[in-house]
Amino acid sequence: MSSAALRSAVQQSRRSALARSARFASTSAKAQTLKERLAELIPAEIENVKATRAEHGKKSFGPVLVDQLYGGMRGLPALIWDGSVLDADEGIRFRGKSIPEIQQALPKAPGGSEPLPEGLFWLLLTGEIPTQEQVTALSKDWAARSSLPSFVEEILDRCPPTLHPMSQFSLAVTALNHDSAFAKAYQQGISKKEYWQPTFEDAMDLIAKLPNIAGRIYRNVYGGGKLPAIDADKDYSYNLANLLGFADKPDFVELMRLYITIHSDHEGGNVSAHTGKLVGSALSDPFLAFGASLNGLAGPLHGLANQEVLIWLRKMQSKIGENASDDAVREYVWSTLKAGQVVPGYGHAVLRKTDPRYMAQREFALKHLPENPLFKLVNQVYNIVPGVLLEAGKAKNPWPNVDAHSGVLLTHYGLNQMNFYTVLFGVSRAFGVASQLIWDRALGAPLERPKSYSTEAIKKIFKDKTA
Ligand SMILES: CC(C)(COP(=O)(O)OP(=O)(O)OC[C@H]1O[C@@H](n2cnc3c(N)ncnc32)[C@H](O)[C@@H]1OP(=O)(O)O)[C@@H](O)C(=O)NCCC(=O)NCCS
Repeated sequence: MSSAALRSAVQQSRRSALARSARFASTSAKAQTLKERLAELIPAEIENVKATRAEHGKKSFGPVLVDQLYGGMRGLPALIWDGSVLDADEGIRFRGKSIPEIQQALPKAPGGSEPLPEGLFWLLLTGEIPTQEQVTALSKDWAARSSLPSFVEEILDRCPPTLHPMSQFSLAVTALNHDSAFAKAYQQGISKKEYWQPTFEDAMDLIAKLPNIAGRIYRNVYGGGKLPAIDADKDYSYNLANLLGFADKPDFVELMRLYITIHSDHEGGNVSAHTGKLVGSALSDPFLAFGASLNGLAGPLHGLANQEVLIWLRKMQSKIGENASDDAVREYVWSTLKAGQVVPGYGHAVLRKTDPRYMAQREFALKHLPENPLFKLVNQVYNIVPGVLLEAGKAKNPWPNVDAHSGVLLTHYGLNQMNFYTVLFGVSRAFGVASQLIWDRALGAPLERPKSYSTEAIKKIFKDKTA
């Protein structure tokens, strides 16, 4: 088939998928489930990818510089992911929608004003805004899948409280592979075309079980008594807050809704998202793949930075006191750089402007905790650090990222245990990684296997080349 004919077949197939779904909506009393909607969308997307490859597959993306091989592959075009795209100046867009747009468009909890992450998951997977009814059905589905196998509970209960919560998190998620629908179906010889279905079930189970894992780790490590049961009539974020012991604070529950939504995904190349995709490409099930993502997220240059920010702010306060002058803060920032350390929460591998996720959290703080002293310090730091980083002249992006703000909001509500913060980031990141894994299996994404070179080979290959 010519590429033009293929394109028109794709358009036709998309039109009939939409028509089918409209018919479904008008004739069916029961709202369409996420899995039903995906089943409709997948065939058209397979054709869309085929057409795109037929038309553009042999075209060059431009040169690859040797520096990119040594430089952490910065900017190297290497992956496909439709769920979210990061623009260096504008920040993240989820299926084309900016953070303020999704805050407006996604369904909310009764009486709430922040988007429900259930809706974000639907959007990541389908590119569509779900109805309130569809989002409620997802909350209920996740509540029904939320319990942990008793051996996973025992693994967590046996961890020493000194083991970092992220290590405990990764252990528990990896152990869930015991009951993986994908691993079982693969053993039974499932056809490639059907891979996405058990992957979908695993992804749903994974997300559903995270509040119980996070809650258990929190209570085991920091106390707080017995874990309450998941309430099937409440949304995911309420249940997470409740398991942590904070559901009596409605603003904290709202914060969780915003937090999970904005931390869910940040295009495909960041360490946690890419690790999940890479490990998943070996057909490791979603639990194994996301366990690996969590190990990447646990690094201080990635998700652990939100813990590091608060530690850094506290150290600064103990050194220069509260209500310190701008000059004292500036001097402290310089002392961090001179000690050969990074200023946590600032800089980004892709972004070149203030992270809109930082701005969304700032808006939340202005609304709910404008007088909080730590928030005031974060603002003061925001006014000083970029100037210092610019003057130091190394960081390509002197502006704050998502991690510069989250700890302040969490401590405001009494969640003071900084080394737990990355677990919340991990719960959120599951939404993006899980969506990607489902689409990768639906589109038949192959095993990832880029080529590595030795420095000797580089010298030999480029000896006589000038560019
Ligand atoms: C996020 C981060 C890892 C991106 O790294 P990157 O893409 O290599 O960033 P750059 O290209 O701007 O780095 C160039 C130099 O500036 C330095 N730099 C970047 N951000 C810096 C920061 N916040 N403080 C001090 N130095 C910084 C880098 O360490 C690097 O120094 P080097 O040449 O001595 O190795 C980096 O900005 C950082 O370490 N930030 C602090 C940790 C953090 O907030 N992480 C969360 C990210 S969401």
